Amino acid sequence: MINVALPKGRLGEKAYEVLAQAGYECPAILEKNRKLTFENPAKGVRYFWVKPSDVSIYVERGAADVGIAGKDILLEYQPDVYELLDLKMGCCRMCVAGREDLYVDPEKALRVATKFPHIAAKYYESKSREIDIIKLNGSIELAPILGLSDVIVDIVETGKTLAENHLAPLETIVDISARFISNKVSYKFKHRQIVEMCQAIEKNL
Ligand code: PRP
Repeated sequence: MINVALPKGRLGEKAYEVLAQAGYECPAILEKNRKLTFENPAKGVRYFWVKPSDVSIYVERGAADVGIAGKDILLEYQPDVYELLDLKMGCCRMCVAGREDLYVDPEKALRVATKFPHIAAKYYESKSREIDIIKLNGSIELAPILGLSDVIVDIVETGKTLAENHLAPLETIVDISARFISNKVSYKFKHRQIVEMCQAIEKNL
């Protein structure tokens, strides 16, 4: 049995469709209920829904053999897993955003609000810019509006959230997409099954 961690939400549903097309369907998963695990023994697969930012934890610790995680999560938490495939879905970019007329005294630390403190710290370190990180857990766009921060480092997909809050993307840090990842021990001991799954997914990308 291969245990697959799917990110709860739209990306997870899309990822499941790709897996189903690849021959790993599990019809029970489409039932509207609150169950978190689903299996199809005939196909040798068990799925579970986890919070998107937790997928890499389940996979890193072997509770899941494989999973689908955003590159943003992999860059932020640097889990010790194999990144096997770029699924080319859930595409967006990690950006610095703020007011278009932003002026910040270069002598002062730039106040950066974000859910991604590691990505933000590395980015500004590469630019030798001193920053003050304000770690938030959601609705990041509020921070520059209320003067809590000068800029934000966040995911931009359509750009709608920024535009509707009178903010603009100022710099792109990195392009993001969903990745198919594997636990390192599982990759050794379930090698054939995981490689077959990878190849079947790749054919449908
Ligand atoms: C993400 C991100 C932005 C929004 C960007 O938030 O943090 O707020 O999506 O999407 P857009 O460019 O298409 O408008 P998410 O939906 O994950 O919720 P959160 O604010 O609670 O993190």
